[in-house]
Amino acid sequence: MDIAILGFGTVGAGAYETIRDSHCGLNVKRILDIRVPLGFEHIVTSDYNEILDDPDIELVAEAIGGLHPAYEFVSAALKAGKHVVSANKHLICHYFRELHALAAEHHCMLRFTPSAGGGIPWLYNLQRQKRCDEILWLRGIMNGTTNYILDAMQHLGSQFDEVLNTAKALGYAEADPSADIDGLDVRRKCAISASIAYDTALSEEDVPTFGIRNITRRDIAYFDSLGMTCKLLGCARRDGNRVIAYVEPTLLPAGAIESSVGTNYNCITLFGRKVGRLSFLGQGAGKYPTGCAMVQDMLDIAAGIRFPAPTITQVVPDPSIYPHRYYIRTSAHVPDDIAERRDGNVVMTVPLSVTDIHRFASQAQNTDPRIFLAGLEDNIE
Ligand code: HSE
Repeated sequence: MDIAILGFGTVGAGAYETIRDSHCGLNVKRILDIRVPLGFEHIVTSDYNEILDDPDIELVAEAIGGLHPAYEFVSAALKAGKHVVSANKHLICHYFRELHALAAEHHCMLRFTPSAGGGIPWLYNLQRQKRCDEILWLRGIMNGTTNYILDAMQHLGSQFDEVLNTAKALGYAEADPSADIDGLDVRRKCAISASIAYDTALSEEDVPTFGIRNITRRDIAYFDSLGMTCKLLGCARRDGNRVIAYVEPTLLPAGAIESSVGTNYNCITLFGRKVGRLSFLGQGAGKYPTGCAMVQDMLDIAAGIRFPAPTITQVVPDPSIYPHRYYIRTSAHVPDDIAERRDGNVVMTVPLSVTDIHRFASQAQNTDPRIFLAGLEDNIE
């Protein structure tokens, strides 16, 4: 199959080299980029029409990132009857409904496994499991930068800023690392995952999010004393026609699988009514892992492996359906009716909904901008 790669940055080059080295039957006929690396003059173009108008190119692999012009390129490809593979979480999250409708209308396949979980075949397996099972919940470490930071703070005693700088130098972090540490990167991945699992089309705004910006070594020492490990998780579950998806630092017992996931690894789990727990561990980012995931999607399309088009139903986001306990460390006042136990400026709460904790935190932030909170997850199933 002849394909085109849009964007010859880290991920696009990873996909190109994976195809070149594996002799897997795909042929990269064109690469779209404004820079022309030495030796690539014969296939690189900066004119997208050369790709769009080429009837031999059956598939477009988008690795540009961002919303524009990625959206214009991808929607034009689908309208021209070309299959699309995208690694772009921002694009897929934002235009989930619209791009699926376009693909269905033009009888094309749209695949985006690398957009959440990087090299991990997470979305692929979520779609696959969903064909014959009910996904009771999903949750996971979906961001390598924050896992690297939390792991180094816990096991090496590193300071937050120092380890964030290392993560940037290693190329894990987003261009603006606030997208990592404030949980916005996980929010998109979580919205995409929940949309697939629960036949909906969640937007980023449907996913209440706390990050790890304010975590301190003292917090971590306190968690250690409780035998708990803190991980930034994206979580989702469904109750009837309501779905909750949220991102928050989460305290897990030492025996939970996620607790032992170190460095920049991701680990994402689905729990199916029939299959039980399926956990996927691997590199959630990087040139070759993400490039490989793109190529796997291309090969599935070339082999004609289709998933049912998502049926976008009337499932509505409702962040009130899964109350759980929280750790709060703050100098702000925590009312008695939500405090189960106090220890200095630390409070363990009664079960609160995600809506309740966000309402509390947005008020408390006025007096204590350094507030940190984490959900408690006792379930290690
Ligand atoms: N900054 C992201 C991470 C890259 O650290 O996981 C992959 O989306």
